[in-house]
Amino acid sequence: MAGARGLLAAAALLGFLQASSSFEVKDSSGKVCIIADLTVAFSVEYKSHGQKEFAHFFLPQNATVESQSSCGNGNKSHPILVLGFGAGHSLSLNFSEHADNYQVEELVFHYNLSDATLFHNSTAGEVKKVSHKTTIQARMGTKYRCINAKHVNMKSVNVTFSNVTLEAYLTNGTFSTNKTECAEDMVSTTAIVPTTPKQNTSQVPTTSPAPTASPPNPAVGKYNVTGPNGTCVLAYMGLQLNITYQKKDQKMGLDLLNFIPQNTTSSGRCDNTSAFLNLTFEKTRVIFHFVLNASTEKYFLQGVNVSTTLPSEAKDPKFEAWNNSMSELRATVGNSYKCSAEENLQVTDKALVNVFNVQIQVFKIDGDKFGAVEECQLDENNMLIPIIVGAALAGLVLIVLIAYLIGRKRSHAGYQTI
Ligand SMILES: *[C@@H]1O[C@H](CO)[C@@H](O)[C@H](O)[C@H]1NC(C)=O
Ligand SMILES: *[C@@H]1O[C@H](CO)[C@@H](O)[C@H](O)[C@H]1NC(C)=O
Ligand SMILES: *[C@@H]1O[C@H](CO)[C@@H](O)[C@H](O)[C@H]1NC(C)=O
Ligand SMILES: *[C@@H]1O[C@H](CO)[C@@H](O)[C@H](O)[C@H]1NC(C)=O
Ligand SMILES: *[C@@H]1O[C@H](CO)[C@@H](O)[C@H](O)[C@H]1NC(C)=O
Ligand SMILES: *[C@@H]1O[C@H](CO)[C@@H](O)[C@H](O)[C@H]1NC(C)=O
Ligand SMILES: *[C@@H]1O[C@H](CO)[C@@H](O)[C@H](O)[C@H]1NC(C)=O
Ligand SMILES: *[C@@H]1O[C@H](CO)[C@@H](O)[C@H](O)[C@H]1NC(C)=O
Ligand SMILES: *[C@@H]1O[C@H](CO)[C@@H](O)[C@H](O)[C@H]1NC(C)=O
Ligand SMILES: *[C@@H]1O[C@H](CO)[C@@H](O)[C@H](O)[C@H]1NC(C)=O
Ligand SMILES: *[C@@H]1O[C@H](CO)[C@@H](O)[C@H](O)[C@H]1NC(C)=O
Ligand SMILES: *[C@@H]1O[C@H](CO)[C@@H](O)[C@H](O)[C@H]1NC(C)=O
Repeated sequence: MAGARGLLAAAALLGFLQASSSFEVKDSSGKVCIIADLTVAFSVEYKSHGQKEFAHFFLPQNATVESQSSCGNGNKSHPILVLGFGAGHSLSLNFSEHADNYQVEELVFHYNLSDATLFHNSTAGEVKKVSHKTTIQARMGTKYRCINAKHVNMKSVNVTFSNVTLEAYLTNGTFSTNKTECAEDMVSTTAIVPTTPKQNTSQVPTTSPAPTASPPNPAVGKYNVTGPNGTCVLAYMGLQLNITYQKKDQKMGLDLLNFIPQNTTSSGRCDNTSAFLNLTFEKTRVIFHFVLNASTEKYFLQGVNVSTTLPSEAKDPKFEAWNNSMSELRATVGNSYKCSAEENLQVTDKALVNVFNVQIQVFKIDGDKFGAVEECQLDENNMLIPIIVGAALAGLVLIVLIAYLIGRKRSHAGYQTI
């Protein structure tokens, strides 16, 4: 038993803008158990005469709620919303409940490659099926709301949901007033607001930062490591951590922490091809692992390990993240790497290490001083602007000067003729 709810008339006026469509599933007694209001974009890879092609399309507004849709039957079957459209395509959202939550347990997409209106020149004619788990989840008795895009990537098909309001296991026939917001929306609306108590007390003692203000840049610290043959790591940099974490209430929090150089201790060790710089500030430690590529005579940052204690509102206050396959801060042995622009070193999707005004040299350091500078690409790009502006100004001065000289010569000539 199923029926599609009417579309907003206004939505049709939006023309090329893709408006959300709304769908409902009812049980045999006519009680609504699922409402879904969503925009869905598809990107499908298919073969055309041996070549890869991509089809991009939206879930049309006249998609229909198919008869396979159901409210589920106790423990025997789960609620399911099946949306059919075009020539034999369908998207199913399979719901399940667990503890206090319900979720879209699985997303299933059937697409018919013989539909030439979507898959131009497709050489395969069959109906294909892809499926994937999703992270669409909400508390029971709340509607799920997600304005930002949520991608579900499957083999050959990417499905992108946006502007989603949906609820399953409905008891009241309409959306609940309380909602569960998705992590994507939480982060984008509160990203700059939360600073941790430790930062507020130690870094910004005078005034608490305005909610929209970015945190101040961290102060530049000077750090060194001594190896068997003297100094093997020499580093000047400002250091900032940016950690996204889940709070006890499922919302996302952001921990921005600036290292305070006076209160940061450095240690580490070096051997012939590997160097560690360990920096510890309060309960936070960052370990930089540099390696030497002997054949190219270049060193680079290969690994970063971050461990810290998050604010008590975090679900899990112990945080650790690492990445051992990086390739950053690269320079030739004997030279130093320098970057005035901020660099964001991505450790994981949850952890960024931001370095500011970095100058660093690893392995061979003559006389405990930086060698020749290798500037980062970001700085070189920034330098281009003043160079271009300078060149333009010089050109302008030259033109004015020439014009002036010509003018002077003419007026002289004029004098003589009088
Ligand atoms: C989201 O969908 C609603 C209708 O369900 C529509 O009124 C609104 O304009 C849409 N918002 C965006 C950002 O697309
Ligand atoms: C849905 O709309 C498209 C055009 O937007 C139209 O070509 C198609 O026939 C419609 N399908 C149904 C089932 O109404
Ligand atoms: C459904 O599950 C509950 C416990 O989760 C159980 O008590 C009940 O007997 C089950 N019903 C059926 C029809 O399996
Ligand atoms: C389909 O293939 C034909 C010949 O191979 C080609 O001329 C035509 O442009 C193709 N159409 C599309 C939409 O790719
Ligand atoms: C909805 O939110 C209100 C206020 O936060 C709360 O008192 C109420 O228990 C919530 N209802 C549900 C069903 O979660
Ligand atoms: C899906 O997304 C991934 C990553 O964004 C991309 O590499 C891939 O080509 C996409 N596939 C399709 C079918 O669009
Ligand atoms: C059901 O809807 C009524 C009004 O329509 C409201 O007063 C009541 O709180 C709702 N119950 C739940 C569980 O949302
Ligand atoms: C850094 O250099 C200073 C002076 O050169 C030295 O006293 C200190 O032990 C060095 N630190 C490390 C970790 O090697
Ligand atoms: C911190 O990380 C989040 C998520 O990756 C990002 O949106 C935000 O812009 C970052 N902020 C800073 C100051 O790096
Ligand atoms: C460094 O730590 C000490 C105590 O551990 C504290 O008194 C001092 O204020 C801290 N310095 C800064 C700049 O935060
Ligand atoms: C620095 O970190 C590395 C990698 O975890 C570890 O092996 C080493 O013992 C640490 N060194 C110091 C002095 O803390
Ligand atoms: C220290 O110097 C010796 C002799 O120059 C060299 O053989 C050795 O590899 C060096 N060790 C390191 C860690 O650079």
